[in-house]
Amino acid sequence: MAYRHFEFIEKHVWTLGILTAIMVSIGGLAEITPLFIEANKVQPAEGVKPYDPLRLAGRDVYVREGCYLCHSQMIRALRFETERYGHYSTASESVYDRPFQWGSKRTGPDLARVGGKYSDLWQRLHLMNPRQVVPQSNMPGYPWLSLALIDGKDIQKRMEVLRFLGDPYTDADIKAAPKAVAGKTEMDALVAYLQGLGIDNEPQKPAAAPAAPASDGGAP
Ligand code: HEC
Repeated sequence: MAYRHFEFIEKHVWTLGILTAIMVSIGGLAEITPLFIEANKVQPAEGVKPYDPLRLAGRDVYVREGCYLCHSQMIRALRFETERYGHYSTASESVYDRPFQWGSKRTGPDLARVGGKYSDLWQRLHLMNPRQVVPQSNMPGYPWLSLALIDGKDIQKRMEVLRFLGDPYTDADIKAAPKAVAGKTEMDALVAYLQGLGIDNEPQKPAAAPAAPASDGGAP
């Protein structure tokens, strides 16, 4: 009896196709639905706030200049990574990153917790021409960033869009944005962004973070 049913299905290509599609859909839903529910459950880690206007502008420069092509922002849960870079990265740290900058390409070191590792001056000199501070560096310089000013209105618009997507910016935050970036260059913004990386997430920092070491020349 059952055999005759199978024979019918196997000999009718449309029936076979439709039944196969139904089975694959059920299987797909069983795999995908829990991931969606999980993604919505990710809450910002303690201390993680939406980017302030200057850092938000800096993040845009970071993306525009393609820093992610050489730098990841994801510390893996492996001992040799956590000893070098600090606590491994968690999803709850990147809830306000759209798109996230995790990446896996490391021509240079991971930057997830680079905030505070060097002074602002070091970061500026390094971005102007990396060889000023790391003679053997092959990172390109970005001197033009210190010539371009940040557009306050543009940042305001970006904050509005991010609020629409769910970031908890208040009206006051958005209103104050142009003032916060007035007269600031893209260099100022990028340095502010870099100096904030990993810093907001204090509870995750290892208790005895090592003091800023000299750059090691960037073995990834
Ligand atoms: C072609 C690859 C490449 C690109 C593109 C690149 N970098 Fe780098 N970066 C490196 C390398 C290699 C090093 C290690 C040597 C050094 O410190 O200069 C490095 C080091 C750094 C460091 C110091 C990290 C540490 O822990 O010592 C920072 C910060 C940094 N880069 C930021 C940036 C930013 C911001 C951009 C984009 C504007 C960028 N990089 C673009 C290759 C790159």
